[in-house]
Amino acid sequence: MTKKFLLYSSPVVLMFMSIALFEPWIYRTFITSSEINERLKGEHFDIIAHKGASGLAPENTLAAFEKAIEIGVDMIELDVRNTGDEEIIVFHDETLERTTNGTGLVHDYTLAELKELDAGSWFDPKFSDQKIPTIKEALDLINGRCKVLIEIKHMDHPHYHDFAEKLVDVIREEPNGYEWIILQSYDVEYIEEAHKYDDHVQTKKLMIGEDSAPLISFYVETKMHLGRAKEDDRMKALNPEFHTLSTRRVFRMHARGFEVYTYAPNTREDMVKMLHMGVDGIITDYPNILMDLRNEIEAL
Ligand code: G3P
Ligand code: CA
Repeated sequence: MTKKFLLYSSPVVLMFMSIALFEPWIYRTFITSSEINERLKGEHFDIIAHKGASGLAPENTLAAFEKAIEIGVDMIELDVRNTGDEEIIVFHDETLERTTNGTGLVHDYTLAELKELDAGSWFDPKFSDQKIPTIKEALDLINGRCKVLIEIKHMDHPHYHDFAEKLVDVIREEPNGYEWIILQSYDVEYIEEAHKYDDHVQTKKLMIGEDSAPLISFYVETKMHLGRAKEDDRMKALNPEFHTLSTRRVFRMHARGFEVYTYAPNTREDMVKMLHMGVDGIITDYPNILMDLRNEIEAL
């Protein structure tokens, strides 16, 4: 009886497991449309420039932030790290090679040394004047003209002992900083430290890096962190990688009271699919494409 039951039930179990595993792919491929249609009429969504308008200017530079503001984005996302002399700079990678003419680990250099580097020519020689900005220079330039989403990169290094607190101090120095500057991290501890230090600060939780196995880790993270995050009403949004999303998952996150900002669809087709799934914001390298979409939807 048990053997027979197992034999007959296993195809059904397998079918449910496959549907669960391939759910986002099924939604993206068969259910959500890649065309703008009436369903999107009146939908509000935030346009967030990933590392500035990083498809149009070198990422995380003042030029990329100016470009994003010129496009009219709602928010700029940027990444922060510490220098060897514990100054906070805007920089994505742990090492210098990809986006500057320097070599080695960022935190092995002082701010003065890093300021000597060219942070723009790798993208286009016309940006050769771009330097690695400090967080203060970036925030002073943006100056509340749009919101800023600061991603705290995780670093297991003594320099980072009170990094969240230092960032909160930077937010406090900016006029009305609490209103337009938001912290986010994959690492929930940074977010908790920031809140412990100052409860006024706004935060978001990032989910699923591109390099992790998306579906399995999505389930693990949903089970481990979503429940915990739910109890913390200061955490306003969950920001998942876009391949892991489906309409049902967006619905479930909304039902738990979170906004959903997804990163980083860069084609019009993927952006429209995300909008059909009901996300609240899209973090993209090409905010110009998303702005064109917004204008088309408004004209519907
Ligand atoms: O804002 C989310 C996104 O920026 C996380 O990935 O690698 O681009 O910093 P990454
Ligand atoms: Ca980032």
